[in-house]
Amino acid sequence: MTRDAAETRALGAALASAARPGDMISLVGDLGAGKTQFAKGFGAGLGITDTIVSPSFVLMAEYRGRLPLFHVDLYRLADAAEALAGGLIDDRQAEGVTLVEWAERLAEALPDGRLDVIIDGAGDDPRQIRIRPGIDSYDRYLELIPETPASEAER
Ligand SMILES: Nc1ncnc2c1ncn2[C@@H]1O[C@H](COP(=O)(O)OP(=O)(O)O)[C@@H](O)[C@H]1O
Ligand SMILES: [Mg+2]
Repeated sequence: MTRDAAETRALGAALASAARPGDMISLVGDLGAGKTQFAKGFGAGLGITDTIVSPSFVLMAEYRGRLPLFHVDLYRLADAAEALAGGLIDDRQAEGVTLVEWAERLAEALPDGRLDVIIDGAGDDPRQIRIRPGIDSYDRYLELIPETPASEAER
């Protein structure tokens, strides 16, 4: 459970230390759940000093840190085909970490090699955040979930 946006950012920052080149993290949750807050914290954990904002008017924003961060927001996207045609999967992403808001919109096109971060709750309510590795190599993220805020690992 995270009680406020700062705790969600702290969780993102803690998980960022597990990041390796080529990782993909799918952020799932309603509008206002805290996907962008998580991305801000994750970016801070990668040592990114630029302000991370929702890339709503571009498909993908790129930031420089310990690893490059590619921040994608599919909220306004009609379908997966459009996302892929728009260059969602790009060679440069192999060298960095890709965070995808509304990744579930990719449906079948979403790779299994990813970490799901599922945020439940909105408004002023506490958020429940579940961390679910799509494949075993993402298990390393589970070890970094802080005791406080208590988030849940799910397999
Ligand atoms: N526990 C929490 N975690 C994340 N955000 C929270 C939390 N509690 C309140 N908020 C607020 O909810 C909003 C989340 O916005 P944002 O991260 O842009 O959502 P999303 O990207 O999922 O649409 C922010 O205004 C933030 O301050
Ligand atoms: Mg957002």
